[in-house]
Amino acid sequence: MASLVLVSGLFGVGIGAQLLKTLPDDFRHTPGSWAWLSYDVPSYATLPGQFNRSVFEAPGEAVATDPEVVALNRQLNETDFVAYDDRFFDFVGPDATVEKVITLAHQTHEAPCWVPGTKDIFFVEWGPPGGDNGVHNYQYLLNTETHKLRNVTTDPPTVNVHGCVAYDGALYVVTDGGPSESAYFAKIDPKTWKRTTLLNHYYEQPFGSFNDLEVDNDGNFYLTDSRSGYFRNIIPFTPPTNPSTYFVDGKTFRPKAIQITTGNANGVSLSPDGKTIYLPNTGVSGGDGKDPYGERGLWAYDFATSGGLRKAKVPVLTNARLLTNPIANFYDGIRVSKDGWIIAGANDGVDVIDPVDGYILGSIRVGGDGEAVSIVLNGHDIWIVGRGGVWHVSNIRTALTDSKK
Ligand SMILES: *[C@@H]1O[C@H](CO)[C@@H](O)[C@H](O)[C@H]1NC(C)=O
Ligand SMILES: *[C@@H]1O[C@H](CO)[C@@H](O)[C@H](O)[C@H]1NC(C)=O
Ligand SMILES: *[C@@H]1O[C@H](CO)[C@@H](O)[C@H](O)[C@H]1NC(C)=O
Repeated sequence: MASLVLVSGLFGVGIGAQLLKTLPDDFRHTPGSWAWLSYDVPSYATLPGQFNRSVFEAPGEAVATDPEVVALNRQLNETDFVAYDDRFFDFVGPDATVEKVITLAHQTHEAPCWVPGTKDIFFVEWGPPGGDNGVHNYQYLLNTETHKLRNVTTDPPTVNVHGCVAYDGALYVVTDGGPSESAYFAKIDPKTWKRTTLLNHYYEQPFGSFNDLEVDNDGNFYLTDSRSGYFRNIIPFTPPTNPSTYFVDGKTFRPKAIQITTGNANGVSLSPDGKTIYLPNTGVSGGDGKDPYGERGLWAYDFATSGGLRKAKVPVLTNARLLTNPIANFYDGIRVSKDGWIIAGANDGVDVIDPVDGYILGSIRVGGDGEAVSIVLNGHDIWIVGRGGVWHVSNIRTALTDSKK
């Protein structure tokens, strides 16, 4: 979207401009386009005319009667970086860019993982109408330097992968299950593509359909189990219980529920010290329709502190708190940077969220009709997989991971 600098430059001095806060000096001429929405601009705090949007639409998609607001929305719809907080400028810096590196079908892409020891990102196409009636028995590998895409099939094939995390040289994945097997948690060796199933039941109760996972510094796993696979008709196993998050002991693979919701489970990530877990509740995503009253909140929980008798982490959550409702739609994949910033796929981009005050610092937009679903952080870059393709956000000022792979 670098060519849109000119467009935003024009709008920046024209109609719609008085609703925006003036950009900091070093953000006036940047390779990516910027807008700053701030409630300390009085004309933005009290918009003229009528305006309307559902929670499923981004601010730039609101229907408005006033020409200034219409012009603002046209600009927002073409902007790479939308700041809501001055900390976003410091976080992203002026040199960052957003590039769509590959165009794919306008359907969900999920489960991105950096393949250890390579330049490849592993990810999947998920659900109908793709695959064989929504069933996928292969995954994608995208070379991040050449942008060449290829397929991989594990041995045995892994059906309907939905989440992935790279840990200790391997890929750990969760699946929704498929027509003839319920959801499971597995390890994939990226050198041989051999798949080993690690866990596939809770005392003979099938899991509903796993959505995503996270791993802590001790090698324990956190698996979110959702209702999405059943609602999208890719598995015949009735969700046996409400969507849940399971703690899975990294040595025994014994599962234990740590959070249950009547909404829906989705992404999961941990704070860098492993003491806090972040879980978006995405009840709005659980059914066929779009119910604006469905849950969308991003929640933080702490782990109960371990007592003197027990060194291991206590898999019990405490201190639940709502960090924020996303500005648009719901948070899907989430990851936490090395400094603790929460980065989440949401609708037309990814949001950066403060883990303590819950303010959304800004959105990095994918543009066009794309939708950000899930992300991989790498050094100063974010790779976004979603509806319509894969996007690469480069040159973010803040280091997101310790070293670049
Ligand atoms: C606002 O938008 C919703 C759809 O999102 C629509 O049903 C409703 O009629 C709109 N209301 C007005 C006043 O435009
Ligand atoms: C991957 O495999 C699927 C299913 O066989 C096929 O539709 C798709 O074109 C393949 N893509 C690539 C990049 O090989
Ligand atoms: C936003 O931009 C996309 C193309 O980039 C266009 O298809 C869409 O209609 C625009 N939406 C609005 C509300 O202007």
